[in-house]
Amino acid sequence: MQGSGVIVLGVETSCDETGIALVEDGKRTLSEKLASQEELHAPYSGVVPELASRQHIKILGPLLEGALKESGCALKQVGLVAVTKGPGLAGCLLTGLSFAKGLAYGLGIPILGVNHIEAHIHSCFLDGEVDYPSLALIVSGGHTVLAVMRGWRSYELLGQTRDDAVGEAYDKVASMLGLPFPGGPAIEAWAKTGKDSRSPAPRFPRPLLKSDDFNFSFSGLKTAVLYWLKKRGGSPISDTDVAAVASAFQEAVIEVLLKKTFAAARRLKVRTILLAGGVAQNETLRQEFRREAEGSGFNLIYPPKRYCGDNAVMVAALAYRIFTDGGRDDLSLEVVPSLGLC
Ligand code: KG4
Ligand code: ZN
Repeated sequence: MQGSGVIVLGVETSCDETGIALVEDGKRTLSEKLASQEELHAPYSGVVPELASRQHIKILGPLLEGALKESGCALKQVGLVAVTKGPGLAGCLLTGLSFAKGLAYGLGIPILGVNHIEAHIHSCFLDGEVDYPSLALIVSGGHTVLAVMRGWRSYELLGQTRDDAVGEAYDKVASMLGLPFPGGPAIEAWAKTGKDSRSPAPRFPRPLLKSDDFNFSFSGLKTAVLYWLKKRGGSPISDTDVAAVASAFQEAVIEVLLKKTFAAARRLKVRTILLAGGVAQNETLRQEFRREAEGSGFNLIYPPKRYCGDNAVMVAALAYRIFTDGGRDDLSLEVVPSLGLC
């Protein structure tokens, strides 16, 4: 039940998850609703923007009603509407923004647009403060970003993907292996069974591992998987092969992410590492980062799994802090599909 603080209504529609949350004072979640569109997009092995936008429109209202009911809040108690303004799919962002604007206008309350990548970083703050400087690795279906945070909202981009995002590579490799969309959880599950497989899966390349910068690239790795599968001459892929490829692919991804992130932290003398975004739900990734952090004296923070993927709690919580610092937008707020972190 709510107290007497500012209740922020968070709205998230940047891709294929519709999220609504009511969060009080950036800390107490009164209600959170998340509707995944996985089933809708599964036949296409990827997100279909037009279908995603239409689904957001359909579900936003019922989700809000559900959240109000669950929290016991009345709409008139909401003090701020927070909405993802970008980056993301233009049509999807527009559905959330229009919904948010309608509410802000109707209720006569402020609106605040939030950067989606920053919201993912903020999911590491949900349990408390974070030391600065810290190094944030955001790994999701749309982004692979490594950035230093020198202070509250002070970001310096260190590196990003030159082509596919990590989650996108997971999804595409899963599709090649005939696994369901989204591919991340499926590859993770198969990789577990393939770890000790005797199938002759190759050692896939570790793209840009030795480059002197902190950028990433995953499309070559994805192509290496494709060639390995093609070389087999069209014979059906056995379960053993699926498991072996999933395991070898995931091993390559995690090695690149881990080595580059910790190398950056050492070079910049940063002791705190933040790991967030949909791919950060991967248990093997979390374990490997934890092992390296503990072994080398780094402080590692990642959110609970349910706040790694897209959600509206991180949007509302970040917006509250920006709002208390004096930040707000007006009804001229627009979506910025290619918004960068800084
Ligand atoms: O952050 P998110 O929900 O949406 C974007 O902002 O993109 O991330 C979705 C991505 C998908 O590509 C999905 O396959 C990946 O996160 N993902 C995973 C896992 N769970 C979700 N990747 C690897 N392992 C997982 N367990
Ligand atoms: Zn995201």
